Amino acid sequence: MTQAVLGIIGGSGIYDLPGLEGAREEVIKSPWGEPSAPVRRGTMAGLPVVFLPRHDKGHRLSPSDINYRANIDVLKRAGVTDLISLSACGSFREELPPGTFVLIDQFVDRTHKRESSFFGKGCVAHVSMAHPVSPRLRIHLAAAAEAEGIAIARTGTYVCMEGPQFSTYAESMTYKTLGYSVIGMTNMPEAKLAREAELCYATVAMVTDFDCWHPDHDAVTVQDIIRVLNSNADKAKALVARLAKDFPREHEPCPIGSDRALDTALITAPEA
Ligand code: ADE
Repeated sequence: MTQAVLGIIGGSGIYDLPGLEGAREEVIKSPWGEPSAPVRRGTMAGLPVVFLPRHDKGHRLSPSDINYRANIDVLKRAGVTDLISLSACGSFREELPPGTFVLIDQFVDRTHKRESSFFGKGCVAHVSMAHPVSPRLRIHLAAAAEAEGIAIARTGTYVCMEGPQFSTYAESMTYKTLGYSVIGMTNMPEAKLAREAELCYATVAMVTDFDCWHPDHDAVTVQDIIRVLNSNADKAKALVARLAKDFPREHEPCPIGSDRALDTALITAPEA
């Protein structure tokens, strides 16, 4: 049996995981460079959990400066099998107001300044990203949210922009018209790299604002976001605690093969 190890990436407002029992910091070296921070390893209700704050304490790293490859690599080396990304986002839908948690099932990648693959130059692989999120993790997250009385949307498309500036009005209207649900700056290439590392991945996108398309909400400001961020962070911590409590102790094979993604992806001949 493979022991399940839950990885948690904390986004804006989530720089620690207070319920982590016996937590200790571990510096894990990566050939891909410096991760955002040392990982914090411990248990929650007996389940091994590894936490990594994406922006580091004090929000030192901007979305474009995060070393996503090193982050995913150290989580893999820490033994993580299932990875949950907790991420602040703006909303394109009236029915997804600030405070809503969206269990993302699709991504659109509009980033352009980030290293987005572990492969290339001598070893080429093309993993499938048709279904970027583990449906099994979304089911566990939905059950945990229901148990904690947290309002969620069960599906949603997350468009990842480069940032660090927020969108223009025209961009915001375009994304809304295209039917996207939410916008953030960090889940790509994170989701792609998780797939290449054969980790099951899911995002809880926590709405902090309506971006700038909304007739009643003009421009997004960091002050507005921070106001919602703290209550979202408290709910996210309760969600993770419940998820860990009810999480299967044995890693369940991913129904869409995220944990075997490289079986069908490598194209470079082994002898090359
Ligand atoms: N993170 C939180 N709100 C956001 C927004 N409106 N656009 C991009 N990233 C965000």
